[in-house]
Amino acid sequence: MPKNYSYTTLPPATMLNPTPVVLISCAEKGKPENRNLVTAAWAGTVNSEPPIMSVSLRKERYSHGLIAESGEFVINLVDERLCRAADFCGVRSGRDVDKARELGLRYRAAEGMSTAPALDTAPVSLNCRVRQIIPLGSHDLFLGEVAAVQVREDLLDERGGLHLERAGLVAYNHGLYQRLGDVMGFFGWSVARKEVFQKRMAQYERKRNSK
Ligand SMILES: Cc1cc2nc3c(=O)[nH]c(=O)nc-3n(C[C@H](O)[C@H](O)[C@H](O)COP(=O)(O)O)c2cc1C
Repeated sequence: MPKNYSYTTLPPATMLNPTPVVLISCAEKGKPENRNLVTAAWAGTVNSEPPIMSVSLRKERYSHGLIAESGEFVINLVDERLCRAADFCGVRSGRDVDKARELGLRYRAAEGMSTAPALDTAPVSLNCRVRQIIPLGSHDLFLGEVAAVQVREDLLDERGGLHLERAGLVAYNHGLYQRLGDVMGFFGWSVARKEVFQKRMAQYERKRNSK
């Protein structure tokens, strides 16, 4: 028997959870040595052909101006080792502090970008060119077309397949940074044959135990 829950109505709010938490790297147009990192939880995937990502930033963020003027940003995925940095870059402004230096992080060149750098050690970077900026009220929505995706090679298998389940990615859940848990299923598992399901799940289990 399903449990009977009762519900309370809250005021309208953006309660979608979990969200990703990403570190966006960007730099000043004409002065690319002036680089910055900003944390965003309101980042998303909005189109596949062409690949377009979104990030919603308040106008007052230092990075807002850097990205709007340079027309570039890089979305760096956050793993457990970058989790503290993600918090720090979300509570300090690049106007006041060189966040990467403070954290002992390095930038690296981002393929396809002329100004924005990528964050070294991040598992994946999505190097984006701004296509549109849509003012929405509190935030401006930046739509960026992905010019290149760079992945850390230790996350690739012998055949070049990407294993993001091994990256130790972190999600943001209503104010908390949380590790992702065990694999519960894979795309299409709800309709997969039992043998296929068991074989695939055994592979994930072996990989987990061999870590
Ligand atoms: C977990 C987390 C998520 C955040 N997500 C966003 C976001 O999606 N958009 C935004 O404008 N600010 C967001 N912020 C706040 C900015 O990261 C923060 O104001 C930062 O200090 C701005 O840096 P900047 O002035 O160097 O650009 C977030 C902060 C944290 C800690």
